Amino acid sequence: MAPTAKITIDDQLYDLPLHTGSEGTRALDISQLKKATGCITLDEGYANTGSCRSAITYIDGQKGILRYRGYPVEVLAERCEFTETAYLLIYGELPTEEELETFRRNVCVHTLLHENMKKIYAGFPPDAQPMAILSSVVSALAIYSKDTLDPRDPEQRELAIYRMLAKMPTIAAFSYKQSIGQPFIYPENHLTYCQNFLHMMFAVPSERYQMDTDFVEALNLLLILHADHGQNCSTSAVRMVGSSNVNLFSAIASGICALWGEWHGGANEACINMLETILADNRNLRKYIDLAKDKQSGFRLMGFGHRVYKNYDPRAKIIKQVCDKLLKKHGGDPLFDLAQELEEVALTDPYFIERKLYPNVDFYSGIIYRLMKIPKNMFTVMFALGRLPGWIAHWREMQLSPGKAIHRPMDLYIGSTLREFVALVDRKQTSS
Ligand code: ACO
Repeated sequence: MAPTAKITIDDQLYDLPLHTGSEGTRALDISQLKKATGCITLDEGYANTGSCRSAITYIDGQKGILRYRGYPVEVLAERCEFTETAYLLIYGELPTEEELETFRRNVCVHTLLHENMKKIYAGFPPDAQPMAILSSVVSALAIYSKDTLDPRDPEQRELAIYRMLAKMPTIAAFSYKQSIGQPFIYPENHLTYCQNFLHMMFAVPSERYQMDTDFVEALNLLLILHADHGQNCSTSAVRMVGSSNVNLFSAIASGICALWGEWHGGANEACINMLETILADNRNLRKYIDLAKDKQSGFRLMGFGHRVYKNYDPRAKIIKQVCDKLLKKHGGDPLFDLAQELEEVALTDPYFIERKLYPNVDFYSGIIYRLMKIPKNMFTVMFALGRLPGWIAHWREMQLSPGKAIHRPMDLYIGSTLREFVALVDRKQTSS
């Protein structure tokens, strides 16, 4: 007999199907609950809600485990190229040499933007936030890619995926060039994904650009470590928006917007701002630890804590090691020393110990980006670049899922009950 869980509501007993995932996670299936009982479930912040079945990424937050399609992220970060990891996430298997070559070719022929798209950039002020530019221009891809808007058509779906992957680095690098008043540097398709991005970011027409191979490697690693993370806020946004059958570009634009917030991907920039503030404030670590503990202050330790990890984030562990290695070779960074001290103080403080708050992926990543001369306001764009294959993989998985349905949660209504309408002239002010 299939396993079930039993709940009693108003003295009546109901059976709920109990599913077990491939790694042993158990889930109560409440899909028929409302029909059977009239009740809905309430889970603010979705901390206990499985919104879908997914075969993409496995996370064990207690043990600090992260695997893409069954492969530990540590192994992929050491042995793979970013495009290879993207293929794995999107299609489920590591590519053969031939499959990878075909995939790379399919992607790189789409790296150019339509020339008219450059005019979109001209409409933004020079100090426009790059995440706002990124989401706007990605949204505009739907206008310039009208032949790939139907997610139900397999050919259109695949072409949209190639275009999205190919154009994202170009869009991101152009937003930086626009902000500093330099000419856009066109993609060069003989370069790898990471090389091409650095080339478009830092080359200028008047000089030969010498690429630092350490930075190419570091970028490859950072993008892989950010490539997917289950049903996080931005991926859930992509799935939510995509569930209406909208095109890939619009779904990804919504993911970019969700990532921008400082409780999510925006934490990498916020973390560097925080470290700079502490450094300028005589390295007064204790003051900021105390502020983070004080709920009234509204201040949180940026780059610390995670909804899923109640242990050291495995990505942060790798990033810290790479940061250390790179800074030993390329010269130190006072922010790295400070970040390590801050980590040490926090990890010995009962507040952080009791709540299992550890450094997350955003705590050390900004220090590597600083070293690479990537400006602070581009940090979250870098995160988006890395997360793109994950967003695409989830969007595609959802499109192909036999159980695909529009996402439409409910609420527990706590507002006014039926009221009588009052004419405008008769209304009294009720609040200041
Ligand atoms: N500093 C201080 N206290 C914290 C922090 C922090 N960074 N993070 C969590 N807490 C506290 C909360 O105040 C809460 O305390 P309480 O139990 O006394 O009320 C407790 O720890 C649990 O925190 P929640 O907010 O319930 O945890 P949640 O899972 O909702 O939030 C989040 C996770 C948003 C990441 C949170 O830890 C945070 O704001 N961190 C700082 C921002 C950050 O680094 N975000 C990046 C996350 S990784 C990513 O999205 C890519």
